[in-house]
Amino acid sequence: MRIPNRIRRAIIPAAGKGTRLFPLTKAVPKELIPLGRKPVLEHVVEECTLCGVEEIIFIISPAKDAIRRHFGESVGNIRFQYAYQPVPLGLADAVRCAKDYVADEPFAVVLGDSVIESTHSLPPFRRVLDMFEETCADAVILVQPTPRDQLSRYGVVKPKDAVDSSFGFEIEDIVEKPLPDEAPSIYAVAGRYAFKPSIFEYIDRTPRGTGNEYQISDSIRIMIEDGGRICCVALQDGEVRRDIGTFETYFEAFALELAKESSR
Ligand code: G1P
Repeated sequence: MRIPNRIRRAIIPAAGKGTRLFPLTKAVPKELIPLGRKPVLEHVVEECTLCGVEEIIFIISPAKDAIRRHFGESVGNIRFQYAYQPVPLGLADAVRCAKDYVADEPFAVVLGDSVIESTHSLPPFRRVLDMFEETCADAVILVQPTPRDQLSRYGVVKPKDAVDSSFGFEIEDIVEKPLPDEAPSIYAVAGRYAFKPSIFEYIDRTPRGTGNEYQISDSIRIMIEDGGRICCVALQDGEVRRDIGTFETYFEAFALELAKESSR
């Protein structure tokens, strides 16, 4: 039986210049730098495979064709497509580049520079897909309880009611990179989303925001203003997001991978 909201495709935006990791990422895309025995992006693709994704659309730039050479057309049962974002104008713009590939089906967005470690059998991304498939939400977002002094690095959601973080919760707002004392909660967006295709209408209505870029958080905000229903799933104990966007966080992720390797 076909589940109407079933998500088969994931978009992985990976066209950014990775300037925060220069000179390491001058010629090598940041998504292909090693995290233990394999590139970061292979960890992310494995997470998608474990969660039942059948097709991945990588958003790359001409300078990052190495991603296409690495993954090719398919691996096992998963197919790969490539769309180009000539100039990195933000996450919403990157998602827009895949519009023709997802047509009128719901889809996921999985950030290519963050890996989610989990001690559970299924990655938390699966809970995002389950919640999307089982409810009539217009979007579902994975969030991470985050220390207050770090919230200004992220998109931060505003829950509608008091939160029991072991369950999903609905939100009434989202703010991209808020000032430290203006963050509406401690729940930061953790780089995994599920969307109805109507998000493209909201992306088209999104003005430039933080960093003079088109932010997907702002598109979600317009969706909420228009009556859209957005739910969140929070990371639980034993689930940690590892970001490789800066040397500090990349080294932390690498150290954890080495620790896992030596305990094998
Ligand atoms: C992006 C999103 C932000 C999110 C973060 C981590 O920011 O815009 O809302 O919290 O990823 O998932 P970036 O890391 O590209 O600045």
